[in-house]
Amino acid sequence: MTVKTMHTQDVKELLEKVAGFDQQGGNDRYKKIIHRLVGDVYRLIEDFDVTPDEFWHAVNYVNRLGQNGEAPLLAPGLGFDHYLDIRMDAEDAERGLTGGTPRTIEGPLYVAGAPISDGYARMDDGSEDAETMIVTGVVRDQNGQPLKEAVVDIWHANTKGGYSYFDTSQSEYNLRRRIRTDENGRYVARSIVPSGYGCPPEGATQAVLNQLGRHGNRPAHIHYFVSKPGYRHLTTQINLAGDKYVYDDFAFATREELVIDAERVEDPSRAEAYGLNGPFTEVVFNVDLVSTDDATLQDRHTRARALEGEAG
Ligand code: DHB
Ligand code: FE
Repeated sequence: MTVKTMHTQDVKELLEKVAGFDQQGGNDRYKKIIHRLVGDVYRLIEDFDVTPDEFWHAVNYVNRLGQNGEAPLLAPGLGFDHYLDIRMDAEDAERGLTGGTPRTIEGPLYVAGAPISDGYARMDDGSEDAETMIVTGVVRDQNGQPLKEAVVDIWHANTKGGYSYFDTSQSEYNLRRRIRTDENGRYVARSIVPSGYGCPPEGATQAVLNQLGRHGNRPAHIHYFVSKPGYRHLTTQINLAGDKYVYDDFAFATREELVIDAERVEDPSRAEAYGLNGPFTEVVFNVDLVSTDDATLQDRHTRARALEGEAG
């Protein structure tokens, strides 16, 4: 059927009432956004001739998405996180805040309050028989000067692609640490080489991806928040070069500058320099921060995060 009702006075009035346009209370911006959003969905139903069966299937889907806590997993899969990055990059350019290490998406799996230490941290609890990884680098300003006491907050998956806290089989804060850079701007993390991540195969996010003919995989990656008063907060992540999904990330987080070689090191003297006694994989990631006086740019965005706002 091809009935058209969007143009009718009935639908126009319905939408205005839905959005509370005839009410004093509430929030004007919110009303306008709901008016637009609901109107766009009505129009979609008309244009695609969505049947009641299809509509109720979709409502039930949203319910399931929420029950599984997967809404913040679906968002990057639909490119929303990357789209917000594109907007923030354009805003930065407009402000003249160019240069520095590029941002990329946070993802849904950060946990606030990881243990903090100076210069060095071991991130893994030793429970996995895995390749040792050293992740190191220098945090610098735009002129290449090292920045001491910058906080480098790192998190990544284990060899099965699971993140502690969300994967309850892992110990508390496993593979999550905050490191303050030393007087030379350097941080050193000892950890294990992570595996790529895959969306839960039976989950609500993967269900959508299946309909789109897409996979739900991410390359092996390491997340970073890097901050220091006086500098723009940086949310980013690096991909380990060579992973088959580096240029095929379902969450669209890859940026060329953030694809980093993971070097296998067999030289005993280099192992010794990190207190290791065997071969390891070294990942070097230097971070360049951009200075700003704008305090609102110096902190990460407000967002619901695990344990955010709790002690620690
Ligand atoms: C998702 C998982 C990640 O590890 C990540 O970094 C980004 C997104 C996700 O499940 O959507
Ligand atoms: Fe991740």
